[in-house]
Amino acid sequence: MPHNQHYDVIVLGAGAAGLFAAIAAGQRGRRVLLLDHADEPGKKILISGGGRCNFTNLHCAPDRFLSANPHFAKSALARYTQHDFIALVRKHGIAFHEKTLGQLFCDGSARQIVAMLLAEARAMQVDLRLAHRIIGVTRADQFRVVTDHGGFEAPALVLATGGLSIPKMGATGLSHDIARRFGLPLVPPRPGLVPLTFQGELLELMRPLSGVALDSIARCGRIAFREAMLFTHRGLSGPAILQASSYWREGEPLLLDLLPGREAAALLRAAKRARPRAEPRTVLGELLPQRLAQALATQHLPGLRMADLPDRALDALAALLKGWHLTPSGTEGYAKAEVTLGGVDTAALSSRDCQAKSVPGLFVVGEAVDVTGWLGGYNFQWAWSSGWVAGQAA
Ligand code: FDA
Repeated sequence: MPHNQHYDVIVLGAGAAGLFAAIAAGQRGRRVLLLDHADEPGKKILISGGGRCNFTNLHCAPDRFLSANPHFAKSALARYTQHDFIALVRKHGIAFHEKTLGQLFCDGSARQIVAMLLAEARAMQVDLRLAHRIIGVTRADQFRVVTDHGGFEAPALVLATGGLSIPKMGATGLSHDIARRFGLPLVPPRPGLVPLTFQGELLELMRPLSGVALDSIARCGRIAFREAMLFTHRGLSGPAILQASSYWREGEPLLLDLLPGREAAALLRAAKRARPRAEPRTVLGELLPQRLAQALATQHLPGLRMADLPDRALDALAALLKGWHLTPSGTEGYAKAEVTLGGVDTAALSSRDCQAKSVPGLFVVGEAVDVTGWLGGYNFQWAWSSGWVAGQAA
């Protein structure tokens, strides 16, 4: 039996959070081993933001994160901010731009972010080992990680294997499982930033509209997002819907405004008076995408000309456009979810460094923790911030 190889810190998972934890610990002179079962590091970074990686958000703030403890993320986000990460990106000469709502994307490719992280890790002599299957983790006086390539020991272990989203890319619940075995509780995981599905009449209406996108406000409970929404062959997607999905619970309704900032009833009544001979679908087509206008006119405005329609029919459609109550049947699940909500319960972790309160030397960072950001670069910022604070202490 070969001897275990010794390090100061072992990090499980060479994704955004794991790479950053490894770099930060390396900067403090720690000998760091970074293990991953994949054959390439940072695979989710590579596919993120349509290949351009929305690596942070200018407006990052703790209220843009979901967690059973909304205060937990504050410390890490304040200790390593979006501005710190932007400075690193600039140091590496990576060109970027703000797309919308503070979202920063590479001008070139997400590969530049991975290359930057690997260059930083190399400079800190992080020992990156890919294609290592993790067989077991135990703790005596040190943590011992057994892999199909042998055993490794260190006094500090960072769990950074992410959440359950996109199992096709190798996502597993390893960090959740190890945390649970060390006695840390979990907030039940569920898919977040995920398309919503519908059944019955609603699906019949939505399916033919697949591909239609429009500006909207999606409201779920007390939270509302104004962004684009998209009809799909299974229901609804697009940024507004993905954002709302993280707040949505089974059985709850969603409220959509398809004409944000506009007075639908007044617009329709005025059109009837000004152009009584106009077809309802033509009038609606000036307010909404053509295919949606046609579908709504057929269902709700059964008349050849605007003049044929009573005001109450116009008002009823206006009410629908401004406040469409609809109850999803479910989500498209982890196969399509951008993130995993829930995870290791923050009550078990120190907010300063993401270290387990009951297991000194054990850290949990990134998406494996019950901290989930909005769409728009927030999840990577959490990965950088939580990875960095763990790296300061591990
Ligand atoms: P991450 O998933 O990045 O890394 C985990 C690592 O652990 C992986 O390298 C994996 O191979 C490894 N691993 C898993 N199980 C293992 C096991 N059993 N043994 C060994 N290794 C294991 N966010 C954002 O802010 N901006 C964006 O533009 C996007 N875009 C985006 C697009 C798509 C399609 C998805 C799916 C997600 C995004 N996200 C995003 C979310 C973002 O990618 C995500 O929140 C972070 O990558 C989380 O970082 P972690 O390091 O925690 O996990």
